Amino acid sequence: MNGEIRAKVFEGAKIPDHLKPSDPRFGCGPSLIPILHVENLLKTGHQYLGTSHRKLAVRNRVKEIQEGLKKYFNAPEDYSVILGNGGATLVFDMVALGLVEKKVTHFTCGEFSEKWFQSSQAVKWISSEQIKKGVGEGNNGYDVLSSDVICVTLNETSTGVQMSELPKVHSQAILCVDATSGAGQCPCDLSAVDFYFFSPQKVFASDGGLWIALLSPKARARALKIAEDKSRYIPEMLSFKQAIVNGEQNQTYNTPALTTIFLLNEQIKLMNNLGYKKVQEMAKEKARHIYSWAESKEYLSPYVKDEKFRSVAVATINVDEKYDVGTMIELFEKEKVAYGIDAYRKLGKNQFRISLFHNITISDLKKLTDLISHLIEN
Ligand SMILES: Cc1ncc(COP(=O)(O)O)c(C=O)c1O
Repeated sequence: MNGEIRAKVFEGAKIPDHLKPSDPRFGCGPSLIPILHVENLLKTGHQYLGTSHRKLAVRNRVKEIQEGLKKYFNAPEDYSVILGNGGATLVFDMVALGLVEKKVTHFTCGEFSEKWFQSSQAVKWISSEQIKKGVGEGNNGYDVLSSDVICVTLNETSTGVQMSELPKVHSQAILCVDATSGAGQCPCDLSAVDFYFFSPQKVFASDGGLWIALLSPKARARALKIAEDKSRYIPEMLSFKQAIVNGEQNQTYNTPALTTIFLLNEQIKLMNNLGYKKVQEMAKEKARHIYSWAESKEYLSPYVKDEKFRSVAVATINVDEKYDVGTMIELFEKEKVAYGIDAYRKLGKNQFRISLFHNITISDLKKLTDLISHLIEN
């Protein structure tokens, strides 16, 4: 079918009221922020926004975030929680500059894991190795004896591939996990990870611009040792030492967005009320729904073929070329029914990429899948 004919398929289609989700935000980040959390922010009145991040109103919330995350992930007592400005992308550079002694191995399978590898490769005084799988395939990683840092991506947001298990690495190696879009929802035993980091605009339903990390004593010691090596220049913004020192005082190195901190803390409290196990069960239920829907329709198929790598946080669903996903998405956006469900831009597939993040309810997800089927079948 040529573009012109395909474009007409959903033009002027009517959206039945009973199939409209209660919230249109199905994007993979920035993600659905509960209105209640924004209302709670408003309630702080003169006591929070516009106050200093070096004072208690903000520092207490940072402390709650640090304690709340350790509780949520059941992290070992001696792990630290640190945070800073710049998002997960900045952490890519921090790892290469401040955690790798001689050699790093990256296990990649899509856009974000690839980008992380490229950040390491740009640092010429370390050696960077890439062990690559194709897009849509999983890559759990394995131990590489010659490497002192092993990097894996818990949930490859570009393709909807999650790791099915963590690699066990040798005692001198630091296992780093970019958990950005899977953090809090995809299974991961924190006690087996040395450096687990994420940005909060995904499952943790905050705004972007911040990074948060849980750090084992081994990773902490490595970072502090490298910081002592005066032959290595590490900009202060990228310094683990700064992040560790400030983290101990419930602060960031430079001024953070206070809204981001507030919303993150609200979401951690909400998720702690349920617990990591329950949140994962809820995510699994949504994943079961969306993948079985995709398998039950002859015009759909899950993009990730190997079931064990299908993400419980980001679902990618291929659609028969006869039906142009682009025009359906335009219709959804125009009618304010669903936002942000297009395929990852560089993947270029006739595909939906739908977030299964915690705040998206199963009933809204069912409405969305029923709506898509309704439009295609009628
Ligand atoms: C897996 C993964 N890593 C890293 C990033 C980059 O995060 P940020 O844009 O907050 O730097 C993203 C963003 O979507 C991501 O999905």
